[in-house]
Amino acid sequence: MNNKLKKIAEQMVAPGKGILAADESTPTIGKHFDKIGLENTKPNRQAYREMLFSTSGIGQYISGVIMYDETIRQSTASGNGFVSVLQNEGVLPGIKVDEGTAPDPNSPNEKITKGLNGLPERLKEYASLGAKFTKWRAVITIDENQNLPTDENLRRNAQDLAQYAKFVQEAGLVPIVEPEVLMDGKYSTHSIEKCAEVTEKTLNYLFEELKNAEVETEGIILKPNMIVPGENSGQKVSPDEIAQATITLFRKILPENLPGIVFLSGGQSEIEATENLNAMNKMGELPWRLSFSYGRALQDSALKIWNGKQENVPAAQAKFLHRAKMNSLATFGKYSPDLENA
Ligand code: 13P
Repeated sequence: MNNKLKKIAEQMVAPGKGILAADESTPTIGKHFDKIGLENTKPNRQAYREMLFSTSGIGQYISGVIMYDETIRQSTASGNGFVSVLQNEGVLPGIKVDEGTAPDPNSPNEKITKGLNGLPERLKEYASLGAKFTKWRAVITIDENQNLPTDENLRRNAQDLAQYAKFVQEAGLVPIVEPEVLMDGKYSTHSIEKCAEVTEKTLNYLFEELKNAEVETEGIILKPNMIVPGENSGQKVSPDEIAQATITLFRKILPENLPGIVFLSGGQSEIEATENLNAMNKMGELPWRLSFSYGRALQDSALKIWNGKQENVPAAQAKFLHRAKMNSLATFGKYSPDLENA
């Protein structure tokens, strides 16, 4: 096994630490800015990311930050590159290398992910900019009326994730491998049982293809969805039920030499994402580190408090640090809702 990759992967899931996903593409961050009525300009995106990354103490709870192509090249207002701001806090710089999704040509209501063309060259540049790890997100859509997902779409996404992971390891970086079975979106009326069934197939195909591509399991980080019902299902489940369903499946199918699993939040509220992670880490000894790589569930409140205004930066940073700390506690199974207002 490549020791350099193993070391980075272990750092990414160091005890009590998780990853901040701040790699929203320009259109996606625009949707978040819409919520606070802020124009989606380059200076506003820079100011927002500066607010997050320059939070004092970020390195206590955050092991790495996933950035977007524009972001990894940006600096603070006073001229310090974001990469060095993070490095100075002991936080690993990471980069999203997929180029977003497109309709699957064979099944237009499903998605494939773009970005394999020219990837090895782009990886060289990102490594030279200081990136230590990367992310690629595949999106799996459940719609029982249309019999989605199709096997062909699951296979294609697994193959593309594996090809991506192989290129990334060859470039000396650690790939975050993210197959997201959507809980939100247009349909999302499926039950937790259906989510478990589709996630099982998704992960089984993924690990088959990772093996075929000779990707080293000890040098990847898996970023899956939790096993949850679709947002529009009306099904109510507790954090313990989500934890049981997720861990039962993972114990059944995931290799034990996987260094870590960092969940996406996928449309869960901030508190739900923390409670669910906590419930899993309360279940006792697990073969892998179980942590977070949240986007919305780390940023939503901080973004609202910031509201595009410089004078709100300290309060927004305090909120962001608080969520990071709550999720850090959840990686030890030591979170409690009482701590929210402590
Ligand atoms: P969410 O936690 O908002 O789902 O974002 C995580 C992510 O990186 C999705 O690709």
